[in-house]
Amino acid sequence: MKILAIETSCDETAAAIASLDNHNITILSNVVASQIDIHQAFGGVVPEVAAREHVKQILPIIDQALKEAGLSKQTASKELNGIAVTQGPGLLTSLLVGVETAKSLALAWNLPLVPVQHVTGHIAANFINRDLTKFNFPILTLTVSGGHTALILMKDYLTYEIIGQTLDDAAGEAFDKAASLLKLGYPGGPKISAAAAKFAAQNKATSIVLPQPMIKRSDYNFSFSGLKTALLYALQKDSAWSEKVNEYAYVFEQAVTQALIRKTIKAAHDLEVKTIMLAGGVSANKNLREALTQTIQQKLPSVNFLMPELTYTTDNAAMIAAAGLIRLEKQKTTDPITVLAQPNWPI
Ligand code: KG4
Ligand code: ZN
Repeated sequence: MKILAIETSCDETAAAIASLDNHNITILSNVVASQIDIHQAFGGVVPEVAAREHVKQILPIIDQALKEAGLSKQTASKELNGIAVTQGPGLLTSLLVGVETAKSLALAWNLPLVPVQHVTGHIAANFINRDLTKFNFPILTLTVSGGHTALILMKDYLTYEIIGQTLDDAAGEAFDKAASLLKLGYPGGPKISAAAAKFAAQNKATSIVLPQPMIKRSDYNFSFSGLKTALLYALQKDSAWSEKVNEYAYVFEQAVTQALIRKTIKAAHDLEVKTIMLAGGVSANKNLREALTQTIQQKLPSVNFLMPELTYTTDNAAMIAAAGLIRLEKQKTTDPITVLAQPNWPI
């Protein structure tokens, strides 16, 4: 079974072709046109600019994805079994470009359309190149991106139950805001991570203290806006902060990472899950990947731990293809005419 997937929920125009054979999802092509350079000047994504870029990029990107997978527009209707597209959540004007393109192609090629919820796409990045008969449910997924931070319980491939989430900022958003306070630029996650690694490499102790978010609460929710404000106040009080940017980045990254890990371990233990998965753009964070791996090995050694390959962590269409293939196999398709972009589509 082969699918074309399209993702335009934020500032990446992406298309991918993937196949599902013998319970294995293989990515045949994965093309992403990033708009980072364009939005960097504004310090964040400008929705109208993003939409206009998507309009320019979408058809050439689909063409390239088809070509790299050995397909063409002429053969696509015969060789593909469906088209998947991110229907939401995301920026409305960005989503519209992908959704309307996918609808048009599904109608022209007479193929089924599979709408995909973006967060479930991030989760499905974990299903790529892995034997789908070997996943042990229940699975607890820590989904951390620029727009979402949640602990999601999956009892099978198609059910998602949010058991905890951020009460304010998403983890990626917190990284982006901290990077902006530290004047590190956009997008903040990779910049904070690189600066923090420089401090860690020095093996020095730090005297900077930031609060541990939500440490006293026994639920599975997160909160990062207090941490961001604490960083702001610490910088305001410290006239020499600009000489300690790497150290501040390190302490901030540690605080976010530890809060994410603490709640994940607690939830996985309480809910007696068999597998923990990491997903979303922040799952590219090296410190989070390593610290979570170690903590699970120490505290929950019988639990499987999976992370997506780095290429599939930040927004891409391969993950939408993976989620789409699983839905297509279960016949979860929708009449293209009825599909509309849904900027606030909940999981
Ligand atoms: O999943 P994603 O690409 O887009 C959304 O669906 O939101 O996530 C983007 C977020 C941004 O906030 C970015 O700063 C963060 O992921 N991010 C990282 C890293 N790479 C990307 N955060 C921490 N460390 C990283 N290495
Ligand atoms: Zn995303």
